[in-house]
Amino acid sequence: MSDLRVALVPGDGIGVEVLAEAVKALTAVADAAGKAIRMTPFDWGAERYLKTGVTLPPDAISRLAQDFDAILLGAMGDPRVPDNKHAADILLGMRFKLDLYVNYRPIRLLHERLCPLKGARRQDVDFAVLRENTEGLYVMMGGHFKRDTPDEVATEIDLNTRRGVERIIRHAFELARRTGRTRVVMADKSNVLIHAHELWQRVFRLVAAEYPGIEARHLFVDNLCLQLIRDPSQFQVIVTSNMFGDIVTDLAAGLEGGLGMAASANLHPGRVGLFEPVHGSSPPLAGKNVANPMGAIRSAALLLEQLGWPAEAERVEQAVGWAVEQQVTTADIGGRLGTREVGDAIAERLRQGA
Ligand code: IPM
Ligand code: MG
Repeated sequence: MSDLRVALVPGDGIGVEVLAEAVKALTAVADAAGKAIRMTPFDWGAERYLKTGVTLPPDAISRLAQDFDAILLGAMGDPRVPDNKHAADILLGMRFKLDLYVNYRPIRLLHERLCPLKGARRQDVDFAVLRENTEGLYVMMGGHFKRDTPDEVATEIDLNTRRGVERIIRHAFELARRTGRTRVVMADKSNVLIHAHELWQRVFRLVAAEYPGIEARHLFVDNLCLQLIRDPSQFQVIVTSNMFGDIVTDLAAGLEGGLGMAASANLHPGRVGLFEPVHGSSPPLAGKNVANPMGAIRSAALLLEQLGWPAEAERVEQAVGWAVEQQVTTADIGGRLGTREVGDAIAERLRQGA
């Protein structure tokens, strides 16, 4: 079997700390399996931008596409770059330029103690959000008119293409079919966004008709938020637009213990994927060895799963579950340990072949 080639982009703030722990887990699980993962670090982030003015180097995208199987990213964002230009260039740049149209965010509760809902059991919180990742309100089209005057106007375009909407909705049904799930929910705001989200409605009905064994249900996104905290067990696969997916996945992360637990994968089947924890760079926590590395470690598990190492992926997820069970955790989920100590314990567990 050939080695996996992973590009590491630690980025800024706690991204650097949590990525180091994800690397330990990947190394440990590969060693235990007698396999190899070749990891190549890239220093893209605020520090380099402030020193050189370069965000994403010009050859970055072609190198990533040609020389790597996956990218593992920590987080982007630094108070020294108030408009976070580098974060948009690097993170959104990779999503857009690699055309990673699927933002896959599985939400899985590892222990009842981590869920803020009364009486929720582990099996009640186990679903995937598929967020459209290349268009919508993220295209940064729009502008200012009469800037800095009392009559100023600002616009932001919500771009939805037939192709873009169809491919993410189809991916949701394919995921359901592949994983034996029987329910897909599409969330939009078609009662108000009567053009863009009417397209979502129409395409959802057309694609759903091709999957007769799968129940297709529509919810307005505001109702989805309510239903997610009222009874998350109704959900298996949720598909939605870029901005709504961004918001809904923070809410959903709350159901599995908070942003520190949440993992994500940016995918275009058959191409290099980008794996990252859902949380940001969290400047107030940076450099203190307090950030929860589990979201990053679980993102590394998603990487292994997507690249055809499902047994190793499952072992990493199990090791995180074991750490939660044993209260080998950081303070955000009730523990007393630091980022490194949690990462070391999980890596050690993986080395023991557990
Ligand atoms: C996320 C983040 C990003 C997004 C930011 C950092 C641009 O919130 O991955 O959810 O909005 O997509
Ligand atoms: Mg977000």
